[in-house]
Amino acid sequence: MSPQELIAALRKRYATKHFDPDKSVDPDAFQALLEGLVLTPSSFGLQPWKFIVVRDPELRAKLRGASWNQPQLTDASELVVFTARTNLDDADIDRWLDCLATTQGQSLEALAPMRGMMEGFIGRLSDEERHSWNVRQCYIALGQFMGAAAALGIDTCPLEGIDPTAYDVILGLGDSGYATCVACAVGFRSDSDHTAARPKARFDFEEVIEFR
Ligand SMILES: Cc1cc2nc3c(=O)[nH]c(=O)nc-3n(C[C@H](O)[C@H](O)[C@H](O)COP(=O)(O)O)c2cc1C
Repeated sequence: MSPQELIAALRKRYATKHFDPDKSVDPDAFQALLEGLVLTPSSFGLQPWKFIVVRDPELRAKLRGASWNQPQLTDASELVVFTARTNLDDADIDRWLDCLATTQGQSLEALAPMRGMMEGFIGRLSDEERHSWNVRQCYIALGQFMGAAAALGIDTCPLEGIDPTAYDVILGLGDSGYATCVACAVGFRSDSDHTAARPKARFDFEEVIEFR
């Protein structure tokens, strides 16, 4: 992809208000987007998230009721709910260090200084700060997901106009240790979505980008 093609794809992306319910995302393309979610970077690499793909029409209808009745919830080809770990504890650190040790062939003894650093950092945060930190990591995943979809010519709509508490109930998250933070509808724009033709409204490059 050339720089010009990248900009063209990002310019074409918009928060799709109306999806064509008859157009489905190619399974291989969607699989690539999901693998892109798994590859999202996170602070310390802790990956404090779970991404729930909701396909059941009944669940989708219930979620729509908890999302200001936004039509994207039921019309989009796919719907991903981004959930963040509600807290972080030693088990999260161990899980991550085990993964690192296995995949990179490192001993847990060699990783002990890293463990100490993570424990120190996380230990200084309140429960609320830990959850908020995890939520911030989820938004990195959302950005990467939408950018990747745009690069593949697939439309998305990020959805913060949702009731996260109601989502947790509908999705049965209860005491799973994860809570909803944001959602994203994925598919193809409807020909009748006039918002697609609106010019991109952004502050000037010179106002937003500063070189020093
Ligand atoms: C985190 C986030 C949450 C959003 N939530 C909604 C939403 O619930 N419904 C909606 O129609 N648009 C939503 N938007 C879309 C924004 O309004 C939109 O991205 C912004 O106005 C810029 O327009 P564009 O993305 O079409 O270029 C959301 C965007 C972001 C980044």
